[in-house]
Amino acid sequence: MLSEILESRAGKVKVWSAGCACGEEAYSFKIVWEGLKKSYDNLPKLEVLATDINPAYLERARAGVYSAGSLKEVKKELISKYFHWQRSKNQYAIKTALAKDVAFKIHYLLLDPPGSNFDVIFLRNNVLTYYEDRLRKNALGNVMESLAPSGLLVIGSHETLPYERHDLVRVAPHPFVFRKRDL
Ligand SMILES: C[S@@+](CC[C@H](N)C(=O)[O-])C[C@H]1O[C@@H](n2cnc3c(N)ncnc32)[C@H](O)[C@@H]1O
Repeated sequence: MLSEILESRAGKVKVWSAGCACGEEAYSFKIVWEGLKKSYDNLPKLEVLATDINPAYLERARAGVYSAGSLKEVKKELISKYFHWQRSKNQYAIKTALAKDVAFKIHYLLLDPPGSNFDVIFLRNNVLTYYEDRLRKNALGNVMESLAPSGLLVIGSHETLPYERHDLVRVAPHPFVFRKRDL
């Protein structure tokens, strides 16, 4: 799924985690990206922008600290590679290198997008689940403006789009991943 993006973007890949909570999605993507370095010689530079409406979440996201429980689904070797244990605080903190090129910013999803030409946008488990139809449509419209041609939109696995968009094509076999048509 990412391979087309990698092959078509020479210089830089831009990712937006929209409604990022405490940064889990943003750092998870960065970990996946670091893993790709084994298979690709010339990976483009990655820039991740993660936004949320809640400043307290963003503060925690920037600090990059997580309880052991919240990392229980992360493989042990990834934990030791990308986090260090802060015994006095009983928490894991991400290593500085993982936070490189990951930026956090306050943003309300019903306003203009916080950037443009994103190659991948994660819009999972927030407005599409919790908002009424009119607002879901507005939010999706705003987000789509900032998705690059042939970029990927990822929604939650239990979510659906509020309306059919002729500019989005489902990426099989994932019912929650869409590619923006290059019109
Ligand atoms: C359940 S969390 C989902 C986090 C992440 N996207 C994931 O799937 O793991 C929902 C997040 O969306 C944020 N959120 C809800 N409404 C929002 C809005 N209108 N604009 C920006 N963020 C919003 C909340 O503050 C919360 O951090």
